[in-house]
Amino acid sequence: MPEIQGLRKAQKDKNDEFYTSIEDIEKEMRFYRDQFKDKVILCNCDDPYESNFFKYFAMNFNVLGLKKLISTCYAGSPIVTEQLSLFDVKGLVVNKKTEKTPYKIEITEVPDSNGDGAVDLSDVEYLIKNKKNVLTILKGDGDFRSEECIELLKEADIVVTNPPFSLFREYVAQLEKYNKKYLIIGNVNAIAYRDFFKLIKENKVWMGASIHSGDREFRVPESYPLKASGTRIDEHGNKYIRVKGVRWWTNLDYKERHEKLILYKKYNPTDYPRFDNYDAINIDKVTDIPCDYNDMMGVPITFLDKYNPEQFEIIASSQTGCHPDSMVLKKYSDYFGYTQDRKSNGRTGATMGNNPILVKDDKKHVYYENKDGIRVQSTYCRIFIVKIEEGDEGGN
Ligand SMILES: C[S@@+](CC[C@H](N)C(=O)[O-])C[C@H]1O[C@@H](n2cnc3c(N)ncnc32)[C@H](O)[C@@H]1O
Repeated sequence: MPEIQGLRKAQKDKNDEFYTSIEDIEKEMRFYRDQFKDKVILCNCDDPYESNFFKYFAMNFNVLGLKKLISTCYAGSPIVTEQLSLFDVKGLVVNKKTEKTPYKIEITEVPDSNGDGAVDLSDVEYLIKNKKNVLTILKGDGDFRSEECIELLKEADIVVTNPPFSLFREYVAQLEKYNKKYLIIGNVNAIAYRDFFKLIKENKVWMGASIHSGDREFRVPESYPLKASGTRIDEHGNKYIRVKGVRWWTNLDYKERHEKLILYKKYNPTDYPRFDNYDAINIDKVTDIPCDYNDMMGVPITFLDKYNPEQFEIIASSQTGCHPDSMVLKKYSDYFGYTQDRKSNGRTGATMGNNPILVKDDKKHVYYENKDGIRVQSTYCRIFIVKIEEGDEGGN
């Protein structure tokens, strides 16, 4: 399924209950450790008894030198009502028939309570069970948008979580409104959101360091149907699925994103045709960006995995709503669609929207043709960029 369609499906199905693995959190956190010292960390889509974000920060509280860790749990999350809790806490009502009681955990220290010389989850468990005011029941449902959760957000320095994908836009908007630092999991296709793309373009948010391809494994609730390939059930009966297009999104800086992409290809008009409806050349692979072309180029969205803001400027995206309309030079309502065996697909070129269009027929895919016999085909979403430096990276 094309990635944008996958995004729409995830939104429609509200597949929000994907639980992040501790390995993925550890791998990403390596790049920011020193930025967490003396900070208040909020995990606000994280049942503390379930979330590996809470576990990671609780276990590493002293190593990272955190000031405070706050984790809140949302009433709508089904997982705790069905699955194992990390700790068994008296007074925490878990009602299987209705929904769980939303609560928060606030930690300002994790002492070595059992005196075994190391701080681990058993010390966190001891703390939660024995120290007053560490666990408190929330007044509302734990929605990150609720007043009491916003108060916690205001207190936080850095927010780290995997928020519900169906609320990703609202979630990021709230973080931006309160001017927070954040490290969150989302999908590469979030660039299709106009407001989010604007943040990327303005270099206010970027991809994290550790995930740039492939898929990632997430635990899902017991009720989740395992239909797709790549799913598994572990020896405890926990279900897992693999999700494509996962990325960390952050406004915490890290060294690697300032590394230059080495460009070695030379521009020529045959390999880099111009779009028919954008004033830019087409580039199919990020590694094909020519070292000697200094005008606008349309690159695949995977460019963001390599994006160095000192090397390139992002101008726009072809995703509808992500660019000024004036960028689109041409519409195709007078073109008609055909399959390769010359059967009408019943559509006009208007259905291609603002996709970047090339004058071509690759003899494999649907094409659109006008009355003069000109054939055009649409490419995938493109990000339009220009090089910042004079292009001599190839050493010419
Ligand atoms: C993608 S899951 C990730 C859970 C956890 N952060 C992790 O990574 O393991 C998103 C979580 O947000 C919760 N959630 C959904 N809507 C929410 C809301 N409005 N406010 C707070 N949390 C919400 C879901 O119940 C779910 O547990």
